[in-house]
Amino acid sequence: MKFTLSAQTPENESARVLVAPIWENGHTTAQQVKLNVSGLNELVIQTEKEEKFTGALDTFLFLPMRNGLPYHRILLVGLGKQKDLDPERVRRFAATAIKSAETVSAKKIVFDLSYFAKLDLEHIVHALVEGVELGAYKFLKYKSKTALEKMQITPVEEVILCGLEKRRFKKLEQVISIGKLFARATILSRDLINTPAGDMTPKALLEKAQEIAKNNPRVSMTFFNREQARKKGLNAFLGIAAGSAQEPYFVHLTYRPKINKKNKTIAIVGKGVTFDSGGLSLKPIDGMFDMKIDMSGAANVLAVFSVLGELEPTVQIEGVFTACENMPSGSAIKPGDVVTAYNGKTIEVTNTDAEGRVCLADSLSYTSELKPDYMVDFATLTGAMMVALGENYSGAFSNDTKFLQKFFESSKHEGEMVWELPLIQEYKKKLRSAIADINNYPDNKWGGAITAALFLQEFVDETIPWIHFDIAGPAGVLKQCNDLPYISHGGSGYGVRSFLHFVLKNF
Ligand code: BES
Ligand code: ZN
Ligand code: ZN
Repeated sequence: MKFTLSAQTPENESARVLVAPIWENGHTTAQQVKLNVSGLNELVIQTEKEEKFTGALDTFLFLPMRNGLPYHRILLVGLGKQKDLDPERVRRFAATAIKSAETVSAKKIVFDLSYFAKLDLEHIVHALVEGVELGAYKFLKYKSKTALEKMQITPVEEVILCGLEKRRFKKLEQVISIGKLFARATILSRDLINTPAGDMTPKALLEKAQEIAKNNPRVSMTFFNREQARKKGLNAFLGIAAGSAQEPYFVHLTYRPKINKKNKTIAIVGKGVTFDSGGLSLKPIDGMFDMKIDMSGAANVLAVFSVLGELEPTVQIEGVFTACENMPSGSAIKPGDVVTAYNGKTIEVTNTDAEGRVCLADSLSYTSELKPDYMVDFATLTGAMMVALGENYSGAFSNDTKFLQKFFESSKHEGEMVWELPLIQEYKKKLRSAIADINNYPDNKWGGAITAALFLQEFVDETIPWIHFDIAGPAGVLKQCNDLPYISHGGSGYGVRSFLHFVLKNF
């Protein structure tokens, strides 16, 4: 998408669609559409009589077409109440606008930014760019040519941001390019998640990592296949991979900045189960349906690394994920089997469907050994997380409150909703095993997201500030309904933008 900055008032821009933001604040729409165009006022008044449009967030209305207007269409888009406006609402507003504009085949649309003059304009523009790019996202790789033709999609090609002071252009250009990179990374994560598990195999994740490393001289990569991982002692994740015909891979990427300003390293670790059938502890039909999303954590690692070359954060970044499939077969791990993780701890796998934590046992202990200053993991770990917070929020668990609070500032900046949950040490006893060091399936189901996080903590060096994000809810929107206009059906890429913002902002 092309973004063009302009100091003109909207009457002087030419495009097919003009977006007029409307507050939900008691003023009539006619009082709010302040375009200096003859005949427009009557048109708005007339439309207001016929159609109910309150300016509520996520709603829109096209004014009927009239000759003599400078725009083919004027699109009213609700912003909600003026006092509630924040960048996240602008993200939603922009996505609603772009989606509606598409329905009338507008190639070029105009936003009047003078409406937001009193707010933090850079933050607003950042959110607007993300809203536009993410709102326009579609996953069409699996549609046939005939189906695509029938859909007659005409994407918007140019967005003009007008009503801006010229002195701000330079800074805003930078803001736009960062916003576009954040969106591009999120979209890569979405594409990887949305690709069916039959194609998005462990090998496909590995190849994506190789491609990223190849295209960026600052990113290097090592990986281990089944044999090499066995020699390395990564036997927990190999246990989970045992039932699959697909070769598993342990992948480690490193980004080395030109200048490491504070001489720090941060690690991002992801759960990369390309399909979670549950293994021999097989999932029921409804639970298995969307389990191609179970590699969302690994998709986030790849998404982050795909834009580091252009964003150039001044901190070293380690990215680690295990890529494997959780399948039942004659060679599959059996309930009750014991595996030994990278740090030497033995795990009794009493439920092969609690496989994510077993894979992460290896990746977290391997990453701990790299001694990063900070460590974050993203994992679609438990259904219990969704019971606790629903589809839109992730749950965050941390051994370091300060780090968590700092990270939450980035989550807020990016509109990625999250809530802290406690690591209740008392519950660790639910993970005891009669024969091994730890059991992957707690004694009872209560507090399932917490016991999963406690399990992970056993594999994290306690001196490293660490956050675990259980993204089972927000990672993907398949059967559920999620009402954010910039998140469509499928993978969301949740977490990518917070992480990128955190590394740009704090180092
Ligand atoms: N991948 C699932 C968790 C999940 C569920 C993610 C729904 C996204 C949506 C995970 O591997 C799993 O199966 N967890 C079990 C753990 C249980 C067996 C202790 C669960 O949550 O039921
Ligand atoms: Zn599972
Ligand atoms: Zn899983």
